[in-house]
Amino acid sequence: MANPSAEREQWGSRLGFILAAAGSAIGLGNIWRFPYVTAENGGGAFVVVYLACIALICLPYLFAELALGRNSQKNPVGAIKAIRQGTPWVLVGGLCVLTGVFILSYYGVVAGWALGYIFKAFVAPGIDSTQYFTSFVADPARVIPLAGVFMLVTILVVYGGVEDGIERWAKVLMPLLLVLMLVVIFRAVTLPGAGAGLEFYLNPDFSKIDGGVILAALGQAFFSLSLGMGAMITYGSYLPKRENLLVSGGYVALFDTSIALLAGLMIFPALFAMNQDPGSGGPALIFQVLPEVFATMPLGSFISAVFFVLLSIAALTSMVSLLEVVVSYFVDETSWSRAKSVWMVGGFTFAAGLPSALAQGGSTFLTEQVSLFGVTGFFSIMDYLWGNVSLALGALLISIFVGWVWGTGRAVEELQQGSEDFFEGPIARVWVVFLKYVCPIVIAVIFVGKVTGTI
Ligand code: PHE
Repeated sequence: MANPSAEREQWGSRLGFILAAAGSAIGLGNIWRFPYVTAENGGGAFVVVYLACIALICLPYLFAELALGRNSQKNPVGAIKAIRQGTPWVLVGGLCVLTGVFILSYYGVVAGWALGYIFKAFVAPGIDSTQYFTSFVADPARVIPLAGVFMLVTILVVYGGVEDGIERWAKVLMPLLLVLMLVVIFRAVTLPGAGAGLEFYLNPDFSKIDGGVILAALGQAFFSLSLGMGAMITYGSYLPKRENLLVSGGYVALFDTSIALLAGLMIFPALFAMNQDPGSGGPALIFQVLPEVFATMPLGSFISAVFFVLLSIAALTSMVSLLEVVVSYFVDETSWSRAKSVWMVGGFTFAAGLPSALAQGGSTFLTEQVSLFGVTGFFSIMDYLWGNVSLALGALLISIFVGWVWGTGRAVEELQQGSEDFFEGPIARVWVVFLKYVCPIVIAVIFVGKVTGTI
């Protein structure tokens, strides 16, 4: 039996929602993925395209997910069903749930690395950080249990329910992470040779932009804001009507983008101070650069440990939101209890993550031999398929669904509730134009252009 929506949990306060949604958005996407994707795509010019994607596509689209979630009070599948039962649109909800499972599967592996790095400064001080990383991630006896522990903690938090679990943690720890990042940035930019890194990161060379860079920026923007797979539909479904979706959503985007930009400021000055080639790091980037920075700081081992604790917690609040999407689907749409859903989904996802855990040297086949669409390695293939393509596709379909099927009239009405007369007249009309035309057309053009090689 589906749960009656009257019993649906709600966030304890506005701040609670903002921090939990920001907790979902802020995670490995900002601190681990943003710097290496920026490095691989040419630096400053990528950052400019990324910021344009956030402002012109992700922000208008974020409001659509929040409105759909709050209006339906449902998970992505239920939200679509409530509007178009029995049509192929329901499959879009299914795509969201699947994307959640598969992002979670490899995300949990990286979260496990972060967990393992809490002890790195103590067990392996002074060891060359590139060498250490390479042997660490290739060792199944370390990465698999760490990913397992991480999944277990995620399961326990999600099992605890929305308010007690997610909200309480997010409130205390996110601000602390920000403070520590500022300390690391201060050290990084004062390293000798840091200037070249700032130049690479902040001075755009527009000749570097091509179709691949644009798709990477768009995918990164969706990934970072947790968009395109229904996380914000699900989180929006726990919001009361008096909540101002525009202000709350705006804060989430602002915090998320600021943290990503700050992460770049931690990494690039240090990377250039170490004389390394930015394009060569890949997913290893922050794990190779940051230990070198910590090594030059007073109390470096301690700071390193605290940093990786906070990074693990940032990863945890994101993993919680990924798992929550899938679990809320099973709780709302099937007869499964919350406990059963959490354990089944968590267990399955952990198993689905095993090949990713073995794809950084653990298994030569998964690391070097599998390739798809020009992407090599199981881990990178998963990240490309689910973390890039599927999110952009999900956002394309959901923006068409909200803009053209559900109708912008109803979406605007939903956004007006709690917005204290702000979302009226021209502002609402501009949003409608973005949602109905700009978002789907731009995403579709980037997709088609990339696939056909014309951009
Ligand atoms: N936004 C999260 C991060 O940046 C990852 C995530 C993606 C979470 C998609 C939920 C949905 O780490």
